[in-house]
Amino acid sequence: MSTIRETSAAGGRGGRFDGRRMVVTGGSRGLGEQVVRLLLSEGACVATCGRTADHLDVLRDALAPSDRHRLVTRVLDVVEAGAVETFVAEAAEELGGLDGAVASAGGARGRGLGEATHQDWLATWEMNAGHAARLVGAAAPHLRAAGGGSVVVVSSISGSRPGPQAQYGSAKAAQIHMVSSLARELGADGIRVNAVSPGSMLIRGKRWDRIREEDPAAFDRFRDEFPGRQLVEPREVADVIAFLLSAESRGVTGANIPVDRGQNAPTPDGY
Ligand SMILES: NC(=O)c1ccc[n+]([C@@H]2O[C@H](COP(=O)([O-])OP(=O)(O)OC[C@H]3O[C@@H](n4cnc5c(N)ncnc54)[C@H](OP(=O)(O)O)[C@@H]3O)[C@@H](O)[C@H]2O)c1
Repeated sequence: MSTIRETSAAGGRGGRFDGRRMVVTGGSRGLGEQVVRLLLSEGACVATCGRTADHLDVLRDALAPSDRHRLVTRVLDVVEAGAVETFVAEAAEELGGLDGAVASAGGARGRGLGEATHQDWLATWEMNAGHAARLVGAAAPHLRAAGGGSVVVVSSISGSRPGPQAQYGSAKAAQIHMVSSLARELGADGIRVNAVSPGSMLIRGKRWDRIREEDPAAFDRFRDEFPGRQLVEPREVADVIAFLLSAESRGVTGANIPVDRGQNAPTPDGY
């Protein structure tokens, strides 16, 4: 059976990622969607996943035909046992190997310490640090077989600044530590592992966009956390992720790169 890379006649577009094979978790919406779109637009073959088939279908339908045929999608929840491992194995088979991986899925469960349950802490850990660790573990043999590769883990400004929902900040901090350790463990195989830490991103329909619509005064106060009074655009983060996946960043590993427009506090309802 021919792989997507073979049938798409890799190369010819002149893109930075022509024929490169990438997996991206959580690529149907938000930041992950921007990463998927950017990688496809620069010639990569991409496999991505999400929990909702409709979201993946909307993404696929919105792509140019020339990009669509280089996209593989799977419906799965990254916290389910074995789901990430199966996703990576199937992606590597369909794409004909792997050159890079991005752990973008993430989020938080529960509220502050008084209300968050043990289950909220466990779920938040699994969604962020747990799934990222399993993605690196599953991708490593394929990256090794390709002679090396690059992994990017999406952490957050919350991983290094205090804010409500300590379970989220703790899991994001773990991701930052994880990349520094895994970079050393996998460096001899030519595998680089880095993190990006986005500040609060303005994503259509999501929290900050809703606050902008529903409570402009609160949104305006929050903008004071940014020296330029502008929140982060997901595409700005995607650009840094693409840089970390590309050969231009070959000297960078074990790093955490903030992409936060100099943001101070991660939320307006901080301590
Ligand atoms: N938004 C921000 O301001 C911000 C700031 C700093 C860091 N971050 C981090 O950046 C990353 C992306 O955030 P985002 O705001 O772009 O998220 P988002 O808009 O909620 O998008 C998340 C994507 O991941 C998928 N997803 C979510 N949970 C999943 C799961 N358990 N299994 C599989 N797929 C899942 C979603 O699809 P389905 O819903 O269909 O599953 C969607 O495609 C996260 O790691 C987040 O912690 C976000």
